[in-house]
Amino acid sequence: MTDAKIGIVTVSDRASRGEYEDFGGPSNRDYLDEVLTSPWTPVARVISDDQQLIENTLRELCDDEGCCLVVTTGGTGPAQRDVTPEATEAVADKMMHGFGELMRKVSLEKVPTAILSRQTACVRANSLIVNLPGKPKAISECLDAVFPAIPYCIDLIEGPRLITNETRFVAFRPKGA
Ligand code: MTE
Repeated sequence: MTDAKIGIVTVSDRASRGEYEDFGGPSNRDYLDEVLTSPWTPVARVISDDQQLIENTLRELCDDEGCCLVVTTGGTGPAQRDVTPEATEAVADKMMHGFGELMRKVSLEKVPTAILSRQTACVRANSLIVNLPGKPKAISECLDAVFPAIPYCIDLIEGPRLITNETRFVAFRPKGA
């Protein structure tokens, strides 16, 4: 089985300038290591909150690197420099609104500021792009909610078959899929 490539994009002006350590990217990687039992290879990027750069990075990871899944962390809030959802929408073939809706719903049980995240998701050709907030804690809170639907979504867009660690959670696939 060939490794599935997964893009991990940290969107942060300060982390990209080296002013603070990137905790979001490693949190994402640890999460994926814990839940995926099928082989996968991370393709990591740390970039500033620049819409054009985010769009170019997403296109590169999907089209050139062939990542079946790209997770972004950061830049989903209301501040002037927060443009990750706009960049995601700009590269989308199809918006996947259910991801943002569910992630905000579960996050709201943890923090009232969950509604400040405009996080979304989209499909671009054979890739699924999912936005996560920048706080490392938010990464597992959000991924726990949506990850059970991700392997089947990737099946539907003709990506590799992702297998999850069933002691962690069971990925939902309809009978026969
Ligand atoms: N969601 C979860 N699960 N946990 C959190 O701590 N923080 C919120 C929100 N969503 C948070 C969360 C806060 S404080 C903000 S400002 C927004 O995500 C946007 O974060 P971002 O700009 O780093 O993407």
